[in-house]
Amino acid sequence: MKVLGIESSCDETGVAVYDTALGGARGLVAQAVYSQIELHAQYGGVVPELASRDHVRKTLPLVHQTLDEAGIAPGEIGGVAYTAGPGLVGALLVGAGVARSLAWALDVPAIGVHHMEGHLLAPLMQDEDPPEPPFVALLVSGGHTQLVHVEAIGRYRLLGETLDDAAGEAFDKTAKLMGLPYPGGPQLAALAQQGTPGRFRFARPMTDRPGLDFSFSGLKTQVLLAWRDSDQSDTTRADIARGFEDAVVDTLAIKCERALEAAGCDTLIVAGGVGANRRLREKLQAMAGKRGGRVAFPPPALCTDNGAMIAFAGALRLQAGQRQGLEIGVAPRWDMATLPAV
Ligand code: KG4
Ligand code: ZN
Repeated sequence: MKVLGIESSCDETGVAVYDTALGGARGLVAQAVYSQIELHAQYGGVVPELASRDHVRKTLPLVHQTLDEAGIAPGEIGGVAYTAGPGLVGALLVGAGVARSLAWALDVPAIGVHHMEGHLLAPLMQDEDPPEPPFVALLVSGGHTQLVHVEAIGRYRLLGETLDDAAGEAFDKTAKLMGLPYPGGPQLAALAQQGTPGRFRFARPMTDRPGLDFSFSGLKTQVLLAWRDSDQSDTTRADIARGFEDAVVDTLAIKCERALEAAGCDTLIVAGGVGANRRLREKLQAMAGKRGGRVAFPPPALCTDNGAMIAFAGALRLQAGQRQGLEIGVAPRWDMATLPAV
């Protein structure tokens, strides 16, 4: 079955086709992402109403273009998956409306996908030896920082999460306060590559006590104070970026190791935009290697929001016979633990 996936939960319109007959990474037969970054840059963050309007403009042309480039006729599509939540309600409704209507017109089933389940399953789209549950998943995006025990696909137990800012949000806010343009996370990470390690040392929040929750907002304040009291030169900005990145990466790695211990697992999978961070990838590889375990990441392009992960997660649920009714409903807030098993 070829499943069309549509992602529209925030500021990226993502479209992809996943072919279950091919499976693995090969199953991803078409994909395109349109980013609204330029649209929101002048406001310093995502403006929800503008995001919705842009999804309205871009979704169908992107579906058309994606199918066209891959040489797939609409009649070959056997199911349509869309992000039903969590995310911005207006943005979600656009993708859901387009996807549900397309499925009806094509007379194929539709399925609403949980955005974080999409992220979580993305590392499983591999040809060689894809990880299999049980494993621990670190979900690190702009809106979420969660450690999840994946007992089986569709059975998710939350082990810990952030009490305030998400890791990606902390990257973005820290970048902003040092004058980097939106979205600052990837730029801050690039800057950190040039920074001197150790010149600025920030706390590893909540690692000095047991537990698997995170807190990143205090770190942002520490950076603010360091930046304010500094010479604010380019070198200092890079050194602070390095200190900040090291603090976040160390904190995530410490909690991941604890989560693996707590869940009795050897395999860690990492997903979400911050999963594209090079230093995080290296640190977690080293940690997993030391334990004799394994860590799996999606390719960096599948870490940030995309249609492929929605097509893939939707395909698994459609294959299990799950279906969405004709009513177009979305869930801006949605607990992954309430998902049905696959
Ligand atoms: O998963 P995602 O594309 O969107 C959400 O669902 O939130 O994640 C976006 C987040 C942003 O906060 C962005 O700054 C962060 O991921 N991000 C990074 C990197 N690439 C993206 N953070 C650190 N290092 C990176 N290389
Ligand atoms: Zn996301």
